[in-house]
Amino acid sequence: MMQRLLAHIDWPPGRRPGSAPEPSSSPPPAPLLPSHPLHADADVTDVEDARRTALRKAFTPTHPLRSARRLAGRRTQLARVLRAMLDESAHVVMYAERGRGKTSLINLVSEALRALAFMVGSYSCAAEDDFDAILRGLMRSLPRSLLAVPVQQGEDRLLGCEAALPDGRLQTHDVLGLTGRFTGRRMVLVVDEFDRVTDVATRTRLADTIKLLSDRAAPILFIIVGVSDNLEELLGRHPSIQRNVVSVPLPLLTDTEIEALLERGAQEAGLVFPPAARYAIAGLARGVPYIAQLLALHAGYSMLRRGSQEIARADLDEALEIAVAEADPRVSRLYETLTEGGRDTAMRAFLRSLANGTQDAFGRFVVEPAGPGFLSVAGRAAPAELWQRLVDAGAVRRCGDGGPHLFAMAEATFGNYVLMRAARDGPERRAETLSPVQATTVAR
Ligand SMILES: Nc1ncnc2c1ncn2[C@@H]1O[C@H](COP(=O)(O)OP(=O)(O)O)[C@@H](O)[C@H]1O
Ligand SMILES: [Mg+2]
Repeated sequence: MMQRLLAHIDWPPGRRPGSAPEPSSSPPPAPLLPSHPLHADADVTDVEDARRTALRKAFTPTHPLRSARRLAGRRTQLARVLRAMLDESAHVVMYAERGRGKTSLINLVSEALRALAFMVGSYSCAAEDDFDAILRGLMRSLPRSLLAVPVQQGEDRLLGCEAALPDGRLQTHDVLGLTGRFTGRRMVLVVDEFDRVTDVATRTRLADTIKLLSDRAAPILFIIVGVSDNLEELLGRHPSIQRNVVSVPLPLLTDTEIEALLERGAQEAGLVFPPAARYAIAGLARGVPYIAQLLALHAGYSMLRRGSQEIARADLDEALEIAVAEADPRVSRLYETLTEGGRDTAMRAFLRSLANGTQDAFGRFVVEPAGPGFLSVAGRAAPAELWQRLVDAGAVRRCGDGGPHLFAMAEATFGNYVLMRAARDGPERRAETLSPVQATTVAR
């Protein structure tokens, strides 16, 4: 059943869900376009433009994916969401840190559901949104042609299918009234970035709506997506809906999946990503697809500026330079504060050991006592005093449902920043970080 469903998605040719990962050292791709010294200047410019465009399309750190062609991993989660909706008629809550691929995966889920004749509405929340704003946004995203009854006079100003909702302040049961107002039978409503909504009442009303829809077995299912550690944190405490909602936490990618992401992008952009460069980026990304895409894009631009078609060490250095310089200021400020502008070498070493330490599939790590004055932090001994400084600065947070010893970085990419700084700043350290041997032995 699931194979049939997944077949609706446009996997890369020759690769099906569950197939073995791509070999890590496939032959270099054919050059995208030939370069020749005798080409006229205009042609050279055209070729360069084409290469830049291909690179930009292959590595998209600032855009969620829209097709499965470039999706690395995620088969399990994709299958779980589809099974929840199709076989269990359950609503879904998907959560993870920023940059882990939530919106990308949801785009593919939506594509698969549309192929199965679902009407799929989506809305990305803003901080000030309330229940009304979310529901109206969802309806506006649906094409008007789905309305069973044409819009009435005076409703022209309404966008998409907003006319399916009554005027005035919306109530929970207004969602039930949507059934019958559409040409299609089954509807999925995707609410992305739900963590941004600050209004507690809106969370409760959305949870109430899910409960009501489930109780009446209505053919409308919600997918709620956001930054969170768990379902309750995102949707609020609402014990009676637990049965009707399937939780889909999104783990980090594995190093193999990160390398597959890089290899696939390289083939698409017509460039060569040597194994050592892929290992190095996987060691810095530590499972975060955003970081892998970012470093690959900048390394690619540097390679093009050199007039080459193969990523070299100098390109990684350049990519690191840019990624560090353009990092989220909250992350770089935190690093500067903790390390006193980089002068506190003990703190720098501690951060590096933590960022390279043992983490679980969600990037969380364990902190436990390890003798007087010492702790075991992410599997490595560290002075308790240094750890306390991280706690005091708000650089780490306890993971709500993981017991007293489980922690995560407060800023999702802080660990990546620490590793990128180390690789950029310290020559010995850089040699270590950028060598394949080191990257393959990084604990996960
Ligand atoms: N499975 C994946 N394979 C390859 N790239 C991915 C994958 N998931 C996410 N990305 C890339 O990572 C970046 C962040 O993804 P996005 O879906 O926006 O994350 P989120 O919604 O969790 O913040 C984007 O550049 C996207 O293209
Ligand atoms: Mg997103």
